[in-house]
Amino acid sequence: STAQNKIVVNTDLGHEKISKHIYGHFSEHLGNCIYGGYWVGEDSEIPNINGIRNDVVDALREMGIPNLRWPGGCFADEYHWMDGIGSAQQRPTMINTHWGGVTEDNSFGTHEFMELCNQLGAEPVICGNLGSGTVQEMSQWVEYLNSGNISPMTDLRKSNGRDEPWGVKYWNLGNENWGCGGNMTPEYYANEMRRYSTYTKNYGENRLFRIACGPNGADYNWMEVLMRNGNPGRSFQGISLHYYTIAHDWSHKGSATDFNESEYFMTMSKTLFMDELLEKHINIMDRYDPDNKVGLFVDEWGNWHDVEPGTNPGFLYQQNTLRDAMVAAVNLDLFNKYSRRVKMANIAQTVNVLQAMILTRGDKMVKTPSYYVFKMYKVHHDATLLPTDVESETYEFENKSIPAVSTTASKSDDGKIHLTISNLNPNKAVSISCELRGMEMINFEKGEIITADEVNAFNDFGKAEQVMLKSFADVNVSGNSLQVNLPSKSIVMLELN
Ligand code: AHR
Repeated sequence: STAQNKIVVNTDLGHEKISKHIYGHFSEHLGNCIYGGYWVGEDSEIPNINGIRNDVVDALREMGIPNLRWPGGCFADEYHWMDGIGSAQQRPTMINTHWGGVTEDNSFGTHEFMELCNQLGAEPVICGNLGSGTVQEMSQWVEYLNSGNISPMTDLRKSNGRDEPWGVKYWNLGNENWGCGGNMTPEYYANEMRRYSTYTKNYGENRLFRIACGPNGADYNWMEVLMRNGNPGRSFQGISLHYYTIAHDWSHKGSATDFNESEYFMTMSKTLFMDELLEKHINIMDRYDPDNKVGLFVDEWGNWHDVEPGTNPGFLYQQNTLRDAMVAAVNLDLFNKYSRRVKMANIAQTVNVLQAMILTRGDKMVKTPSYYVFKMYKVHHDATLLPTDVESETYEFENKSIPAVSTTASKSDDGKIHLTISNLNPNKAVSISCELRGMEMINFEKGEIITADEVNAFNDFGKAEQVMLKSFADVNVSGNSLQVNLPSKSIVMLELN
């Protein structure tokens, strides 16, 4: 269509902070995410500190990783934390029933995870076992992590080499308890959650931020029941939402790299469904929690494709293209837009699993297109959201259409304004006029762009990077307005002053 593209940034109307935790991550004991991805062990030839590979830590630090959710996922509700402490040689093994039926040797446990978070400079988000564990077990894990008193749990922690409590804040009360976490009804889960919550205690100054298991996608009834029966604000301070983008369906999801325009279009329109999901779930939350005490935590999201040919189907290893980068940008824009309520989000699953930031092969490492979106969007961490009015042309495919333009505007503490803008159309450049309402003059300081010749371009081992951050300057400023030209299938960041 020939409609005008216009973005009005209301620079004087910002009052919500975009929590940096929206840019969070999730890593499960699944395939080669933990083992091989982060953890190689101290005796490995791959450069590591305390068993954790240096290249991956350095890359994630540079990208900006505010938090890390662990140990699952479905794995969390069959994980028994006491199996993962003490001398590594003496830790019992278990079968990872959800992910390939492999033997888990528990060499990566609580202390190793806390060390990983420490190296990353990331806030830990721990998911407790409500599905197959006990109240006592969860209660003792919190005591082990957070108590500074003299007690059997703190003695145990000290005997394993850690004197001081860690002070873990974010705590999931189970994962997907409507499915792999116990197949519970919302009424049953609400009661169980209240019971577990009662025995996950606060120690010292630390205040636990308990996250109840929230709905699967559009299960509005689950949200309604939890908000009505779950004692919001007291038994839980956050509630999760899981929604994955799947081009086709669960039995045939589609290839990560080999897709046509119809599949690209389906992916983008299904990912935009996040807008409706957030709006409707937040409406329910607003009715029960008008004071906005409970945060919405989108603690699993991203593209789920078929695994790469020849890889273990239980390991969920997929490549990552410019299409994945576009999906990341659109979702992050939506979380920002609803940042009054969305206080955390965690893309699945950081390294070697699903929509990863990093892929590893032996001692080699690749940064994916999605990695570069997170790096670009670092400018929005803890910045003030500036509301925008957007007029966008549509991107049409066959007889369906979606908006071509997605955006976020924010103002950081040093007064700089950052605009991220995406053009979802893979065939056509767009010209956009932006007005910074409330300002008289703006200066264009710098720009960055993520794009490629093909929408299925990806970064591969042993090859030059195809998708990365490049500098961008196709911008004309006059007064408080600017005209920007976005190539087809591109994501741009503009820094203004
Ligand atoms: O991220 C993969 C899986 O997806 C998680 O273990 C589970 O919570 C979800 O179904």
